[in-house]
Amino acid sequence: MYDETKEVAELAREFREEFEGKKVLVSGAAGFLGSWLSDVLLEAGAEVYGIDNFASGLRRNIENALKRENFHFYEADVSKELPEEVLREDFDFVFHLASRASPFEFEHYPLEIIESNTIGTRNMLEIARRNEARFLFTSTSEIYGQPKVVPTPETYWGYVNPIGIRSCYDESKRLGETITMAYHRQYGLDTRIVRIFNTYGPRMRADGIYGRVVPRFVTQALTGKPITVFGEGKQTRSFCYVTDQIRGILKLALSERASGEVVNIGNPDEITIIGLAHLVKELTASQSPIEFHPLPPDDPPRRCPDITKARNLLNWEPRVGLREGLEKTIEWFRGVL
Ligand SMILES: NC(=O)c1ccc[n+]([C@@H]2O[C@H](COP(=O)([O-])OP(=O)(O)OC[C@H]3O[C@@H](n4cnc5c(N)ncnc54)[C@H](O)[C@@H]3O)[C@@H](O)[C@H]2O)c1
Repeated sequence: MYDETKEVAELAREFREEFEGKKVLVSGAAGFLGSWLSDVLLEAGAEVYGIDNFASGLRRNIENALKRENFHFYEADVSKELPEEVLREDFDFVFHLASRASPFEFEHYPLEIIESNTIGTRNMLEIARRNEARFLFTSTSEIYGQPKVVPTPETYWGYVNPIGIRSCYDESKRLGETITMAYHRQYGLDTRIVRIFNTYGPRMRADGIYGRVVPRFVTQALTGKPITVFGEGKQTRSFCYVTDQIRGILKLALSERASGEVVNIGNPDEITIIGLAHLVKELTASQSPIEFHPLPPDDPPRRCPDITKARNLLNWEPRVGLREGLEKTIEWFRGVL
């Protein structure tokens, strides 16, 4: 059975010196990335204050964290009034991750998504400003839309459909970046923006409706259902394993040279979606057939980060290859399905 404690402990060792005893606010703490981030910070000796409204996060993700004395959890919506206890604390770091982030949710909860990334971002920035804390906003590769430059560097401004089905996410993340930079420029707040490219791993939601491709393929393969590929599957994606992403985020938060910067964190190894479907089939030894469905609107044909900036500024690069990361993910999914 998959057990993430070893991976959490390994990561925490790298960051203990910097985070031990620090007060850290994490929004979206019960989500996939937020719970990994919280666990690593807790293991590194930080005092972690987590906020989540369980819009897409799961209590299961924070079960272990809740047993620790250095974890303080508040069920709250980041775009509404925040708990008094949170407003009273004195934080060193604020990480803003709270936002629904899957295609199913873009369609069903567009206004909530917009609020988390705009009003929610401003609320988190205000807390950071009052505390003179360092602030990190989790943006997304989606802000590049259907990029004309691939691999895409941070200097590319994006090619986004402002009224399309994904726009609630793309455009609100873009505005979230703008608000973050406004706090940096107007108040001199120490901010950082990470543009996260497709990240996968244990703790992603297993319910297929959420529509993220790795958990969808893995659940379909493990339950013998057809693997659903959109279009002909020739579109490419690049997949970053969760521990690599968390290491990148923490390095960005700590770098003395990254104030006011925006950095891509993702794995630049590209694979076609049909290639991914075959790889998942192979690794799960599944008999599932592959089924082709119409391509959703605005589905980007290529998605791949240029990570030169992360390499130079943070001395970061991914360590876990797709096969290895998928094997761990599959093992974890076997335990929860
Ligand atoms: N995983 C990826 O590949 C990826 C890629 C790009 C960007 N991101 C960004 O990283 C962040 C975390 O994503 P994730 O993959 O962990 O998704 P997730 O859905 O697992 O986590 C998001 C968390 O935020 C919480 N949340 C949502 N709206 C909230 C609100 N208004 N108030 C309080 N909590 C709220 C959810 O309940 C959930 O626990 C998001 O901002 C997402 O946009 C993720």
